[in-house]
Amino acid sequence: MSAEDTVSDAAGAISADRFVEISYDDVIPNNVALGADKQLQRALETWRPNYLGWWNSMGPLGYQASDVYLRTAVGVDPAGWAKFAYVKMPAYRWGILLAPKVEGRAIPFGRHKGEPAWQEVPGEHRALLRRLIVVQGDTEPASVEQQRFLGGTAPSLYDMRNLFQVNVEEGRHLWAMVYLLVKYFGKDGREEAQALLERQSGQMDNPRILGAFNERTPDWLSFFMFTFFTDRDGKMQLAALAESGFDPLSRTCRFMLTEEAHHMFVGETGVQRTIEATCAAMVKAGIKDPHDVEAVRKLGVVDLPLLQRKANFHASVTRDLFGSEISSNAAEAFGSGIKGRFNEANLKGDDHVLTDATYPVSRVGDGKIVVENEPALRALNARLLDDFIVDCQGGVDRWNKSIEKAGIDFKFTQPHKGFNRRIGEFGGKRISPAGDVLTEDEWKARSGAWLPNDDDMQFIASLMKPCHEPGKFASWIAPPRVGVNNQPGDFEYVKIA
Ligand SMILES: [Fe+2]
Ligand SMILES: [Fe+2]
Repeated sequence: MSAEDTVSDAAGAISADRFVEISYDDVIPNNVALGADKQLQRALETWRPNYLGWWNSMGPLGYQASDVYLRTAVGVDPAGWAKFAYVKMPAYRWGILLAPKVEGRAIPFGRHKGEPAWQEVPGEHRALLRRLIVVQGDTEPASVEQQRFLGGTAPSLYDMRNLFQVNVEEGRHLWAMVYLLVKYFGKDGREEAQALLERQSGQMDNPRILGAFNERTPDWLSFFMFTFFTDRDGKMQLAALAESGFDPLSRTCRFMLTEEAHHMFVGETGVQRTIEATCAAMVKAGIKDPHDVEAVRKLGVVDLPLLQRKANFHASVTRDLFGSEISSNAAEAFGSGIKGRFNEANLKGDDHVLTDATYPVSRVGDGKIVVENEPALRALNARLLDDFIVDCQGGVDRWNKSIEKAGIDFKFTQPHKGFNRRIGEFGGKRISPAGDVLTEDEWKARSGAWLPNDDDMQFIASLMKPCHEPGKFASWIAPPRVGVNNQPGDFEYVKIA
């Protein structure tokens, strides 16, 4: 074994093909030896103009001729997988990149646990696998569509660049799923790849598959909340699929997670910088009470209670994406080795088959919230949702640190799991953010204090004035601590054409 062959990570020894660089001479950059599979290459080259057509009509409005300082994936080595350069978005090199193959990888869970991971689609699980890939794939272009109008009101060139970075990478994630569909699912897969370009976020006749991906992202605060909460749902789903016994799906998702981390960074720091601007303005004006909304808004910053209401909304809508807590589909996806739990391979203390295990699930019983043990296999969505809520808390805690540092008495909290839900155990139930079960009348009387109202949205809209001068930021958001790729504060991240 050479030194390179012995490089390993938590997943085990990694084969030498981690060092395969992408060929940028190909129309479609890839590390999957696309050139050796002419049929696949032709299918993707046929799809590509349709994709570009979608990008041009449904992707970012305007700025397509501008030079944007973007990172492009140039390899899958964790040490140096991206390069930064000015690129016009339609010329972005959307490629197909899989994390390195782990030699001897075994299926880590379910009925097939311990068998060698599948390199081809197992016939008996074909339909389920295709459905999961399509649902994941559908979210990628959906979020680009949702964010289409934001460039025009960017609070800085730095933020505009981050938006476009997220957008091109969601485009690449679509490519990643389309690769799997076209390579492994024949004619059905090609049809699904086309349908992914035809559904449209928020469209009545042919909407995106999942609810949260049909909501509007009308302003930058919504964008930051979306990338904090909803891209994190993406992270959880990708992480569960990265455990898959179907190895190409696992490898695809593992590389997508590398990019996903940046999307959540944009969300977390976006909200954080909003909080910092608010706190700084309050301190400067000598305003102590965070609930003195009128005085705070006069300063041209977002009051903290409004940020809490926005967080409540995005948290609850995103939680619905996890589906019913009790789910026979999730049980089947796990049992058949297709979709694992978060961090499955490293979970200690159970058999990864879950035949006799139980999991505590919250629901409403007798007018209050009760916790009941359910068969763990049927409660996998409940578990992934709980993992998601834990994952969110780190960011919320960092937001609270900023407020504390400014000496302002306010603390963000995540609403109770059952708050404002449409799907699952709490669907249609009326639960306060603190977790009290309410009557319909109580909900009507009080929910206005917990969710953004028309006034809030109008106020946010009034702040959305473009700030497109290098190094300048809108009043409501603080500059970042560090520039992208360590660029200086006045760096021209987008050369607007
Ligand atoms: Fe994505
Ligand atoms: Fe994302």
